[in-house]
Amino acid sequence: MLGLYIHIPYCASKCYYCDFYSAAAPGGVPEAYIDALLRELARFSNCDTGPLRPDTVYFGGGTPSLLAPAQVRRILAAAAPAPGAEVTLEANPETVTPASLAGYRAAGVNRLSFGVQTAFDGSLARLGRRHTAAQARRALAWARQAGFENLCGDVMLALPGYSTDELEATLALLTDGGCTHISCYLLKIEPGTVFGARPPAGLPDDDAAADFYLAAVDCLAALGYRQYEISNFARPGFESRHNLLYWDCRDYLGLGPAAASCLNRRRFSCPRGTAAFLAGDAAYTDEGACTGQDYIMLRLRLTAGLSLARLQRDWGVVWGKDKLAFCRRLAAEGLAAFDGDTLALTPRGMLVQNAVLGQLLD
Ligand SMILES: C[S@@+](CC[C@H](N)C(=O)[O-])C[C@H]1O[C@@H](n2cnc3c(N)ncnc32)[C@H](O)[C@@H]1O
Ligand code: SF4
Repeated sequence: MLGLYIHIPYCASKCYYCDFYSAAAPGGVPEAYIDALLRELARFSNCDTGPLRPDTVYFGGGTPSLLAPAQVRRILAAAAPAPGAEVTLEANPETVTPASLAGYRAAGVNRLSFGVQTAFDGSLARLGRRHTAAQARRALAWARQAGFENLCGDVMLALPGYSTDELEATLALLTDGGCTHISCYLLKIEPGTVFGARPPAGLPDDDAAADFYLAAVDCLAALGYRQYEISNFARPGFESRHNLLYWDCRDYLGLGPAAASCLNRRRFSCPRGTAAFLAGDAAYTDEGACTGQDYIMLRLRLTAGLSLARLQRDWGVVWGKDKLAFCRRLAAEGLAAFDGDTLALTPRGMLVQNAVLGQLLD
């Protein structure tokens, strides 16, 4: 199994909370960037076996919906995804049209992930988003008309002045819009962003934010979305196959500035800096071997949890009686389920995942 991540480091403008690697570039994605991606794809293709033929492709950003459909087609022609591959493109609601969505579909995209964030226009403006809730609703409707059945909506929780009304209105927008997958993230104030320099007024405290997260988990379960990862919920069969590769320690190749890769248990990344990437000057940085600790961290994100038998078989890690006693204590406190082999955090346990990892990682 191989996942291919394509980073598009361009946005129309920068949202106030965002530290993903992208620069404001109102003019769309230059053709030279597609040339640079194809150059890197060729570098990783095997001269004997030809193109990569990934099982999943994920266009992430930045704003991949600034790509013209013809640019998506060029990239997919070079990557040659395997038959039946999941091909996802992240889209900002205000950037799509019925024609661009039809073009993405014809180019081979079969899953769209829209950054909806919230159904309240005042909150969208305070986040520096360039769209309204009505534009998000319209984009989802256009996507369905273009034939997309696999639709994801991204939501941010615990925004300034957040309320249960805002949460419920946002989830209603996504379910009415036909989303089969919903990602819910607690707003994180990142250094180096506008919010990092000047935190907005009215942020919920940690306890209130945790309550919004648990309320989202309950609402989504009632609406038929099964939680399968800390922040991800899907109707049965619509889990993100690409992201599951990350959380299951499978191989993935990330192309573009700031993209991370892990192939044959070796992690490496491309440095930030679009100019160097365009010029072909960016040398990949070795990030070391993928270890049993990575496996523990990644698997504990999943509701399916971590198998101690697999941890021993694949990574040679065996937990002693202190750690097993800690797992039983987590279960007794309702923070995890533990049957002696599989340790799976509950939603309450996921909220304290860092503290749990502090005890489980040496
Ligand atoms: C790669 S980002 C953005 C993709 C796309 N350009 C967009 O704006 O929708 C994917 C998602 O991460 C979430 N996100 C980004 N920064 C965040 C932050 N500081 N706190 C919480 N969620 C964040 C947002 O929900 C966003 O849609
Ligand atoms: S949230 Fe999306 S649109 Fe906003 S700056 Fe980040 S990547 Fe760009």
